Amino acid sequence: MKRPKITVVGAGNVGGTTAQRLAEKDAYDVVLVDIVEGVPQGKALDISQAGPVCGYSTRVIGTNGYVETAGSSVAVITSGIPRKPGMSRDELLATNAKIVKSVVSELVSRSPDIILILVTNPLDAMVHVARLVSGLPKSRVIGMGGILDSARMRSFIAAELNVPGPDVEAMVLGGHGDTMVPLPRYTTVKGKPISSLMSKDKLDAIIQRTRDGGAEIVGLLKTGSAFYAPSASAVDMVEAIHKDQKRVLPCSVLCEGEYGLKDVIVGVPVRIGRAGMEQVVEYELTAEERTALEASANAVRELCAAVDRLMA
Ligand code: NAI
Ligand code: 2OP
Repeated sequence: MKRPKITVVGAGNVGGTTAQRLAEKDAYDVVLVDIVEGVPQGKALDISQAGPVCGYSTRVIGTNGYVETAGSSVAVITSGIPRKPGMSRDELLATNAKIVKSVVSELVSRSPDIILILVTNPLDAMVHVARLVSGLPKSRVIGMGGILDSARMRSFIAAELNVPGPDVEAMVLGGHGDTMVPLPRYTTVKGKPISSLMSKDKLDAIIQRTRDGGAEIVGLLKTGSAFYAPSASAVDMVEAIHKDQKRVLPCSVLCEGEYGLKDVIVGVPVRIGRAGMEQVVEYELTAEERTALEASANAVRELCAAVDRLMA
């Protein structure tokens, strides 16, 4: 049976790990693209050779071009530079906007029905670049940030309460950056509100650690940023699309009035299925939560305005 083709652009830490995780699903053909000669080919070969041991027969192709990407159903875009210690995600803007622009036009010209999952930072601004360049509907240009931020919060809570991570539900909205908006009111452990399980001080500390979660890992690794949890989060989105799961996941999409936000790309809960982002799901927010989401959206607006100036 013909398998859906998933292209992963950028064969670095996030891209290479994403390709590996996708191969292990044994459900897709995977094309791994990078500009560095030999790297995508070498990683593709290595991932293929793990197949007989791990029990998958996924076809993985590594390439420096786009011919092999033709007919992709989904692309995960990870190409770009990561931050170094002391850098913010926003400092990556000019370099990564150029990279994402060229990658998106190559992809869309060969796969007109493609759904784009953006990973490259600064995430929300890169979703904006991809929308401008591709002209695709908002349902098919989606950013991965909130799943990762929520996973960090879930894992910190699980460790603090000594419960399994999957039992913890959390929702982090807003831009994937310093202004992200964790929602403790929607954080539960097996249905129990987090406020009944943990003191406010402990929860506040976890919220702050979540906001700083990316920087914490950059500080430890020193030569790059996180990639295991980011690749897992991107693959979660691919699976939600291909299995038509209709799961509600926090992703970065264009809001056109939802949450009172007009024409801005920001992380909100969305239903993900075969058509991509099928619906923005509106949670009831308090005035304080709404104000925090608006502030985060305004920070993204400033970055997108900088993108518009760069691309003019
Ligand atoms: P990395 O440096 O390990 O890999 C990036 C790869 O992109 C390199 O192999 C590079 O050769 C390739 N590349 C550069 N220009 C290219 C082009 N024009 N075409 C194809 N490939 C190209 O970086 P890493 O750790 O994989 O991170 C990638 C990006 O993802 C960074 O911008 C990082 O900040 C972002 N990121 C975003 C996360 C999120 O939650 N949205 C989480 C983790 C990383
Ligand atoms: C992170 O949050 C670098 O955005 C990436 O780890």
